[in-house]
Amino acid sequence: MEITVAPSILAGNHANLLESMGRVIVSGARWLHIDVMDGHFVPNLTFGPQVVADLARQKQKLFFDVHLLLTHPENFIEPFAKAGADLISIHVEAHGDIEKILTNIRKVGKQVGIAFNPETAIEKIFPYIDIVDLVLIMGAQPGFSGQKFIDSVLQKIEILRQCNSFVRIEVDGGINEAYACQCIQRGANVIVTGMSFFMAQNPKQFIQQIESEKSIF
Ligand code: DX5
Ligand code: ZN
Repeated sequence: MEITVAPSILAGNHANLLESMGRVIVSGARWLHIDVMDGHFVPNLTFGPQVVADLARQKQKLFFDVHLLLTHPENFIEPFAKAGADLISIHVEAHGDIEKILTNIRKVGKQVGIAFNPETAIEKIFPYIDIVDLVLIMGAQPGFSGQKFIDSVLQKIEILRQCNSFVRIEVDGGINEAYACQCIQRGANVIVTGMSFFMAQNPKQFIQQIESEKSIF
């Protein structure tokens, strides 16, 4: 199973996002994780579709992994699709008809993800596993970069991987190299890294090291 690291631009320089994205491109990472926050679903505000569109013009081959941390994601699928998202994840805790919103993401030609918070029961995800490309498991409380990984999340990865051997499992929040390794051993194959990527002495080596972890899946 191929491992992908998705550096999170939330931990970059918000006054110079192009420079932060450039560091991701130079590191050899293939994905860029973009957290869209509404100040309601989480107590923070980040990027609108225009920011994503402007970055997309210079994304080169980067795959834009857009994580919508929104209470009402339904009106934002098309704007982020047009802006250049390649995959859009919504939260299972969001309002609205979740299945319909996931179907809309597919209809606009994008890959589909479903995300859930650390305190949400894993059973809430089961109805959607077979209709998505990716399940995003939060490893820390959503909203801010640089938080501690919650160890009990590791078991959720294991349970999900036992239920489905094909879906991408992305883990997001509080991941350093040691936690990345533990997540991969349990079946995760997309690793989001915010602070640990942008603080890395050698970002290229950081990416290579995690992506070369051996997975038994
Ligand atoms: C947090 C975001 C994460 C965040 C991860 O709510 O969803 O993507 O950027 O950053 P780190 O790796 O620093 O926890
Ligand atoms: Zn995220």
